Amino acid sequence: MPEYLIDEAVEDYAFLNTSAEPPLLQELIDQTNVNMGWPQKLSGRLVGRTLKMLSALTRPKRALEIGMFTGYSALSIAEGMPDDGKLTCCETNPRAIDFAKTFFERSEHGHKIDVIFGRAMETLDTLEGPLDFTFVDADKRNYLNYYLRVREMTRPGGLIVLDNVLWSGKVLQPESEIDDVLVETNRRIAEDPGVENVFLTLRDGLNVVRVKD
Ligand SMILES: C[S@@+](CC[C@H](N)C(=O)[O-])C[C@H]1O[C@@H](n2cnc3c(N)ncnc32)[C@H](O)[C@@H]1O
Repeated sequence: MPEYLIDEAVEDYAFLNTSAEPPLLQELIDQTNVNMGWPQKLSGRLVGRTLKMLSALTRPKRALEIGMFTGYSALSIAEGMPDDGKLTCCETNPRAIDFAKTFFERSEHGHKIDVIFGRAMETLDTLEGPLDFTFVDADKRNYLNYYLRVREMTRPGGLIVLDNVLWSGKVLQPESEIDDVLVETNRRIAEDPGVENVFLTLRDGLNVVRVKD
């Protein structure tokens, strides 16, 4: 995705006027940049602090992350969870898992996080609901599958947050199959009478969905 979808000066201003992440997460960003390929996969401060805020407001006990990478968003969500909360993370990249675990071990919130290696659709079949909170941020080809499956598993009042729903703006003029999946996912959410949602034009787009009570 381009570095800035939103006007660069506006995004910089929002970044500078958002709470900083804790020092451990700043170190995680630095180390991801130095040691990992495609470090731009990491969501960053605006999305991370939004996840922390939503988690702290809703205090989820059973949370799920689909697409963990180096653990930045996982630790952001875990930060807002109660001490006995459990966040299950699905990830296919063993290097990213090893990297993330070194930071989970150093974090006071790391004990809340379990990592499951493997394709998320397969992992989802092994998990039981109900879920209080899910962050979807893995392969876009499966976004609609992830949404529909997680929607079934989410309790009334629970949240589902999907990243990259603007898909660098390609949802406006879809050309590829993956573009179509993003468009279809956003449409299905907007037309689902069982949920309410806010489509935030934050960074690459963040769709915040709440299953109605
Ligand atoms: C955009 S990155 C996640 C970034 C992370 N949520 C953050 O904010 O720092 C997407 C991750 O999904 C993982 N992934 C891709 N396909 C997957 C699949 N089918 N199941 C589980 N994880 C997958 C990739 O290995 C990658 O680490």
